[in-house]
Amino acid sequence: MLYKAFRVEEIDGKFEHSIQTLSTDDLPAGDVLIKVHYSSLNYKDALSATGNKGVTKRYPHTPGVDAAGVIESSSDPTFRAGDKVIVTGYDLGMDTDGGFGQYIRVPAAWVVALPDGLTLKEAMIIGTAGFTSGASIMRLAELVKPSDGKVIVSGATGGVGSVALAILSKLGYQTVAVSGKEAEFDFLKKLGASEIISRNEFLALDKKPILSARYAGGVDTAGGVILENIIKTVKPLGAVSTCGSVSGTSLNVSVFPFILRGISLIGISAQNYPMNLRRELWQKLAGAWKPDCLMDLYSEITLDELSGCIQAILQGKIKGRVIVKLSPEFGN
Ligand SMILES: NC(=O)c1ccc[n+]([C@@H]2O[C@H](COP(=O)([O-])OP(=O)(O)OC[C@H]3O[C@@H](n4cnc5c(N)ncnc54)[C@H](OP(=O)(O)O)[C@@H]3O)[C@@H](O)[C@H]2O)c1
Repeated sequence: MLYKAFRVEEIDGKFEHSIQTLSTDDLPAGDVLIKVHYSSLNYKDALSATGNKGVTKRYPHTPGVDAAGVIESSSDPTFRAGDKVIVTGYDLGMDTDGGFGQYIRVPAAWVVALPDGLTLKEAMIIGTAGFTSGASIMRLAELVKPSDGKVIVSGATGGVGSVALAILSKLGYQTVAVSGKEAEFDFLKKLGASEIISRNEFLALDKKPILSARYAGGVDTAGGVILENIIKTVKPLGAVSTCGSVSGTSLNVSVFPFILRGISLIGISAQNYPMNLRRELWQKLAGAWKPDCLMDLYSEITLDELSGCIQAILQGKIKGRVIVKLSPEFGN
């Protein structure tokens, strides 16, 4: 079968992309062939699409760490043709051709049945970014309850940050958003933020090793100085989750927040999240944790429009989630 894909090639050391017609015969080996209805754009996809060898080692390649679609054929008895499914993470879109193509072929062990309560489109509005928000909140909620105080969220207008704000608000947490986009403060209020701090103001906090305790917890998506300042301002026994590095990859903090306040730092990796927890989290995201404002959180594009959005996400300019519709014939 022939299909269309956003293909990235390495030509004379440069990375170029185009929409190409490929054959499913050339997809990698795997148990399950899936017709992709929707994918979504994540920060990692932009790295893969621009030749970041830490993400993708082999080109030509089709990026897209997310896919939601319908099984075309399966050699594994767990799935049957016609089943609606989600694939996020593992090696999809890294060195395995990903969701920016109309078909993927993957191991059955990567596939989650679409839970009741979500359409394929809604699953991709959540996507890896929203799944990461959910994973962050699942761990944070073990240590921080809504009655403990406010939870601060960085990179608040981005994919992980915006869904995190929406889920936290739904669960009854009071939230504080840190954002570099002053024009989007109304959007952040709509997601439930009760207070908004400009990113520059938060970056400019005093350099002391520990600062006044203000927040019960934090969901950090930025890393670097932003994460350092969250750690320094979390109250005794509070917790901070860390998943991203858009602001920096190093962490220069003293032990004081840990040994004087007993705070916890929780690392989040959505890529290889264990399948039992993965199913449990998708169930939550389809039910009690499904953001009420999901439909206000996304914009929809086609494969032809990916190029501009990839540049925008690399520049930190995306608001909320961007989903990719793989074919005009697909509905929800
Ligand atoms: N560990 C995991 O499993 C996992 C999974 C998914 C994503 N991630 C990582 O999480 C991070 C966020 O992903 P995403 O999908 O939410 O990306 P995104 O949609 O691009 O959002 C990132 C947001 O961070 C803020 N930002 C941009 N540049 C910044 C800078 N220099 N300093 C501080 N803040 C900056 C911007 O929000 P404001 O303008 O509102 O500040 C931006 O919208 C990325 O590093 C991504 O790789 C990790």
